[in-house]
Amino acid sequence: MAYTVSIIGASGYTGGELMRWALLHPEMQIAQVTSERFAGTPVTKLNPNLRGFTQAEFVSSKQLNTDVDTLFLCLPHKVSAPFVKQYIETGVKIIDLSADFRLHDARTYEKYYQPHPCPELLPRAVYGLPELHREQIRGAQLVSGVGCLASSVILATAPLVHAGLIDASRIIADSKIGSSAGGAAFDISTHHPERQGTVRAYKPTGHRHTAEMEQELNEIAVGAGHPANVSVGFSPHAVEMVRGILSTIHAPVVRPLTDIEVWKAYRSFYANSPFIRLVKDKGTLYRYPEPKPVAGTNFADIGFELDATHPRIVVMSAIDNLVRGSAGPAIQCFNLMHGLDEKTGLWVPGFHPI
Ligand SMILES: NC(=O)c1ccc[n+]([C@@H]2O[C@H](COP(=O)([O-])OP(=O)(O)OC[C@H]3O[C@@H](n4cnc5c(N)ncnc54)[C@H](OP(=O)(O)O)[C@@H]3O)[C@@H](O)[C@H]2O)c1
Repeated sequence: MAYTVSIIGASGYTGGELMRWALLHPEMQIAQVTSERFAGTPVTKLNPNLRGFTQAEFVSSKQLNTDVDTLFLCLPHKVSAPFVKQYIETGVKIIDLSADFRLHDARTYEKYYQPHPCPELLPRAVYGLPELHREQIRGAQLVSGVGCLASSVILATAPLVHAGLIDASRIIADSKIGSSAGGAAFDISTHHPERQGTVRAYKPTGHRHTAEMEQELNEIAVGAGHPANVSVGFSPHAVEMVRGILSTIHAPVVRPLTDIEVWKAYRSFYANSPFIRLVKDKGTLYRYPEPKPVAGTNFADIGFELDATHPRIVVMSAIDNLVRGSAGPAIQCFNLMHGLDEKTGLWVPGFHPI
């Protein structure tokens, strides 16, 4: 039986990516896709990669029929929350890819974004990272998406925090990210002459995704009996890619560690997580994670190196921001919320070479 889904804000990059996966998903049938600017326009005019897969046209969200199994919201933060408020009492399952329901605490949301439009709904939302919240997601009506940068750092660091192998109060994360993270709307920072060839630090302190990282890693720390003292110094950089994130995370180790015990921590934490691949292969050019082999996939490749000279571990994490950093976990969550295998419709390798 196919479940019906509608995608609100489908003319953007995450909406387009979600449509690609939904059209290939054996248990999903797209009912409506919305855009205000492109209502009445065929989807393939904006998404040429979907030619031959759909003849759908965008409709205005004012024409949305909520009588579907799941609504995906691919809207900017602040725009999304009122839509959630409008639809939640219909009982429809909602997966909101924006930042509006990622943080549990309205004051933290206000610190990084703006006053929350409907803080009363925050306790009903589950953070949509299946590797951390699989069981809660299964029973949820409202699931948030994940921050792309945040998820690359959380996935890389969670097993170390859980096992108590690092001083979690002194984590430093540095990420390189591609231009599609900024969305499809024009912005001078993603304009080709400004972006091409660039390696540019932006928001080196106080980036919004820090709040998600600390929220989720602190929950893990507390759940494992450690203090809630996680602190992440986070600095992202815009680089010459369209898709992709490479995060490099540095953390002091609490005592001298061996490769084997670090491997064990990752393997046991991710024992039932098919989309996490551990990469540490000295015999190849691709010895550590890189964004290219995961492009277009839901995999997070994670690798590490212990520093023999300085008491620290360096962890590398590579994801595709539009798949593993947004549409991919949203589909994983959809699968869990409908009792399907988490891998359904998502189990594809990337390209090589690309
Ligand atoms: N890009 C990424 O890598 C990434 C990763 C993780 C999470 N996210 C999050 O996902 C969400 C969408 O990101 P995106 O990159 O897909 O953005 P985008 O490319 O700019 O698309 C935004 C979408 O929202 C719609 N929209 C904007 N304002 C609207 C309004 N007032 N009413 C109704 N629809 C409106 C736009 O449709 P029309 O203007 O055509 O109506 C468009 O379809 C954001 O919250 C973002 O933070 C993005």
